[in-house]
Amino acid sequence: MNNDTATESWLARLPKAELHLHIEGTLEPQMMLDLARRNGVRLPYANVEAVHAAYRFDNLQSFLDLYYQGMNVLRTSADFHDLALAYFRRAHADGVAHIDVMFDPQGHLKRGITLQTLFDGLLQAMADAQAEFGMSTSLILSFLRDLPAEDAMAVLEQAKPWYDSIAAVGLDSAERGNPPEKFAAVYARAKSIGLARTAHAGEEGPPAYIGGALDTLDVCRIDHGVRCIEDAALVARLRDAQIPLTVCPLSNVALRVVDKLADHPLPAMLAAGLNVTLNSDDPAYFGGGMLANFSACAQAFGWNRETFRTLSANAVNAAFMPEDRRTKLLAKIANC
Ligand code: HPA
Ligand code: ZN
Repeated sequence: MNNDTATESWLARLPKAELHLHIEGTLEPQMMLDLARRNGVRLPYANVEAVHAAYRFDNLQSFLDLYYQGMNVLRTSADFHDLALAYFRRAHADGVAHIDVMFDPQGHLKRGITLQTLFDGLLQAMADAQAEFGMSTSLILSFLRDLPAEDAMAVLEQAKPWYDSIAAVGLDSAERGNPPEKFAAVYARAKSIGLARTAHAGEEGPPAYIGGALDTLDVCRIDHGVRCIEDAALVARLRDAQIPLTVCPLSNVALRVVDKLADHPLPAMLAAGLNVTLNSDDPAYFGGGMLANFSACAQAFGWNRETFRTLSANAVNAAFMPEDRRTKLLAKIANC
C-alpha cells in the first residue's frame, strides 16, 4: 500500500460529521436524467457527459443557475427520498457518521411542491439511513437570501407542523448584496421558536457579513466564513468565541473563491486557532463528497492524522446531535 492509499483508507475509517451539505446539491447527473425521465421534465442535456460539461463555474451565481435548474426534476416525496438516501449511502461509504442536512424549501414551493411532499421524502430517508446503517441526521431549513425577507418569514410560519423535525434555520444563495441584517426579524422569530441558527457568510460576501451574522442573527456557527482571513480583528473574535466554521474546500475551488486548493486559507485558519470543520457543500457539482474533500486537503496541505482528528472532532462537537451520540463519536475519533 503506498502512502496515498494508506492515508485515504485511514481517512475513510475516521468517523466524520458533515455540517454543510445542501441536499439539492447531491443530485448526481445520472439521477438528474433518471428523475427527468420519470417525471417528464425537459432538460437541456442529452447525457451524463453533457451535464458534466455544463459544470464549469466562474462564481457562485453561475453555479446557482444550474443548481436551481437541476432541482426542477425533483417533484414527488419519492424523489426527495431517493435523492437523500442515495447521498446518505455514499456518505456512509465515505465514513460519515452524521449529517446536518440543509434544504431549500423556497426552491421547491415556487414550483408547486408542498412542504408536506418535501418533509415526507426527507424524513423517510433520514429514518431509513438510521435504521439501515446507523447514520444520524438533522435538518436545517435554509432561506434563500436573494428573495425578500417576508418570503422567508412566510416559509418559517408554514413549517410550523414540522418545527420538532428541524434542528435549525440557515441562509444561503446569492450572498453579495444580501447582507445578514436583511433577515434579523426572521432569525429572531426562529430563535423564539427554539430553533438554532446558522448562516452562509464570507464565501463571496465580505468579512463584514460574518460579523453581521453573529451580531444580528445570533448564529451558532458560520457556513464557509473563509473570507474572515482578510480581517485580523474578526479572526480574533472567531477564535476567542470558538465559532465553528463549516469550510468547503472543493466548493471554494470550483466557485473560484480561491484559484487552487494550495492557495486556500485553511492552513492559516488552523494556525490562527479557528474552529474549522471540513464539508462538501454540493458534492454532485463540486467534484466529490466528504472523503474527496479530506483527501484533497491531505494532498494539498500534508496534514497529519492529529490534524484530521481535530477537524473531525470539531464537526462532531458543533453538530446538531444527541449528547450520548456525540460522546460515542468523539471516543471513536480519539481511538482512530
Ligand atoms: N453558497 C450559497 N448558496 C448555496 C450554496 C453555496 O455554496 N450551495 C447551495 N446554495
Ligand atoms: Zn453552502
